[in-house]
Amino acid sequence: MTEQKLQELLQDMTLEEKVNQMLQVAGGFFTGDMVAMGPMAEKGFTEDNVSKAGSVLGALGAGKLKKIQREFMEKHPHKIPLLFMLDVINGLKTVFPIPLGQGATFEPELSERCAQVAAKEAAVSGLHVTFSPMVDLVRDARWGRVMESTGEDPYMNCLFSEAMVKGYQGEDLREPYRVAACVKHFAGYGAPTAGRDYNTVELSRHTLKEFYLPSYKAGIDAGAAMVMTSFNTIDGVPATGNRWLMRDILRDEMGFDGVLISDWAAIEEIIYHGYCADRKEAAVRAVNAGVDIDMMTGIYSEHLCNLVRDGKVPEELVDEAVYRILALKNKLGLFENPYKDADEEKEKEVILCKEHRELAREAARKSFVLLKNEEVLPLKKGEKVAYIGPYVDNRNMMGSWSIVGDAKDVTTLKEAVLEREEGKTAMFGAGCALLGGEVKLEGFMESVEEEPSAEECAAMMEEAVKLAGEADTVVLALGEHRLQSGEATSNATIQIPKIQMELFRRVCEVNEKVAVVLFSGRPLDIREISRKAKAVLEVWMPGTEGARAIVDVLSGDYNPSGKLPMSFPYCVGQVPVHYNEYSTGRPHVEGKDKDRFRSKYLDIPNEPLYPFGYGLSYTRFAVSPAEIDKERMSGGEKLHVSVNVKNVGDVAGTETLQLYIHDIAASVVRPVKELKGFRKVTLEPGQEERVSFEIDGSMLRFLTENDRWESEPGEFEAFVGTDSSTVNCVKFWLD
Ligand code: BGC
Repeated sequence: MTEQKLQELLQDMTLEEKVNQMLQVAGGFFTGDMVAMGPMAEKGFTEDNVSKAGSVLGALGAGKLKKIQREFMEKHPHKIPLLFMLDVINGLKTVFPIPLGQGATFEPELSERCAQVAAKEAAVSGLHVTFSPMVDLVRDARWGRVMESTGEDPYMNCLFSEAMVKGYQGEDLREPYRVAACVKHFAGYGAPTAGRDYNTVELSRHTLKEFYLPSYKAGIDAGAAMVMTSFNTIDGVPATGNRWLMRDILRDEMGFDGVLISDWAAIEEIIYHGYCADRKEAAVRAVNAGVDIDMMTGIYSEHLCNLVRDGKVPEELVDEAVYRILALKNKLGLFENPYKDADEEKEKEVILCKEHRELAREAARKSFVLLKNEEVLPLKKGEKVAYIGPYVDNRNMMGSWSIVGDAKDVTTLKEAVLEREEGKTAMFGAGCALLGGEVKLEGFMESVEEEPSAEECAAMMEEAVKLAGEADTVVLALGEHRLQSGEATSNATIQIPKIQMELFRRVCEVNEKVAVVLFSGRPLDIREISRKAKAVLEVWMPGTEGARAIVDVLSGDYNPSGKLPMSFPYCVGQVPVHYNEYSTGRPHVEGKDKDRFRSKYLDIPNEPLYPFGYGLSYTRFAVSPAEIDKERMSGGEKLHVSVNVKNVGDVAGTETLQLYIHDIAASVVRPVKELKGFRKVTLEPGQEERVSFEIDGSMLRFLTENDRWESEPGEFEAFVGTDSSTVNCVKFWLD
């Protein structure tokens, strides 16, 4: 449809019809699971709203969605198709590692491919929009949603944000198998105070703009069709009613002209924040801020028409929002083909096909981070291995946002071991329950698996300890329950359940060679595990093919290459902890531990247990001192920092060289290090390669005292190493 036709359509719509476009309702209204009566009527929905609504969330399936669309359009006065949306986060039915795991690959192109596959499975199932990527910067592992982010680094998050948007959307949303991406949650949702979900966010405008906003901007620049508001306040004003944030920053500064959707019921929540007295005022605030779609409240439908009629809201604001919604439908080609790619035959052919599963296995393997290894891994041919722990025979490793992923499509670790010849001699035991009654997972929509009783657990543990005693090596598969990380799952202790720690201790008493395979949605406090186990492999929530990928790595068929996208704190008292912190007036200096008046703890180190960018391999790499080709550059020039990297171990492997820059003195203090580039190199034993990073003026820019992105003359340090703690450094001057 041409722009002119879209405008004509808009002009022809009644005010009620337009306001209904701004309403998003749950699929249950159309499938008969919900009616616009009872509690839903209290939320402000009427049958008329529902029959003319603009979009639907939470319904899935080609057949079902085609039927809903057909019946809906028959009744709709202007035959405007519905938009179908869902959270497709790390895959639809073929589930990839959680986004934090994807961050550990240091391979945004891989996430682009995963997003493309997710889009294909979603599109054939009838969906038009996914509420992904979540690009919130995260620094606090207590916040359960760190699992949905790609980590603590702004530069890396920008690359992943861009890659995922491209993967979902491609060049043109009308292309087959593409869905619109929704960058979320605008803005700063990843910084809730004390790591408690939905809590207040306290960020200076400088920190918000310089470190938190760029990843949203990267997604917008990549063409994201939609942005979602966040639940939190910014400067004391809820984001969903925040005119400055949504109009001045998102629309004017960032140039976003797509659809802005509220998060779930977020327009209503600005009342509970204490920002609006009632629903009418909330409608005014949100529409003034430029929120186009009201997700799952009836506030717009209840009040906007009267507000326009009473002259409290200009009709142009409604027109502006509705035009954007219609334009998105048009970009997806829905006016010509309201079913887009929905196709029952294709669903059967495409979903969980071999190619998709292979990509899931590749992504999982690359996401694993080897945190420690004292010659235990890879497992030796012929040795007797006991696989113990609640994750040995467990299919639930897709992460809490895999709302459509089906555990029956997942292979367990035990099955994956038994698929291999050498696995035939392996021994298996659960050893204990996952949660052991200590953590109560209540109020979740999905039911939580029943756990064995205390007596059964005791027997399981004895059996497992016996197996551990008989084995040459123990692979101990431990970790968080998949529902312990995700939305509304803040944790104050970030440790694995006590019962699993008891199993760990018992097993370590009878066998010295323990390799822990750690499942988690977030960095955990693993001091004791890291001290006692001989090897630790972090596998996050690895998805549908996670178990096969784990066996690939344990067996040595694949040499681990993942790097931490988020620091593993020494303990929870350190969080928020991130490598790119500022120096202080009294920095902690190595060797000066006895200086009293330094910025440090008395009882723990300043450094995290494992820093950002860290991860081992089955081989070792030697990195030469960094060299620089010239010591001065002007703004328009470039210089190069280079190292030689050599595989000095016995097997081929991949190392990720990381370039960090530090601006020594500036008008606004600079982080001690900032990632500005990285390169993955794969080397055979004995092979050496020169790796050069080009540094240009744009990489030295930051948000200066003028509130502009500029570079300032002066001295800089450039570090090249294999993690963020590197001291391999050269200096240069920007004139
Ligand atoms: C979450 C969003 C999600 C939405 C719809 C909200 O609770 O914060 O990330 O997209 O629900 O499912």
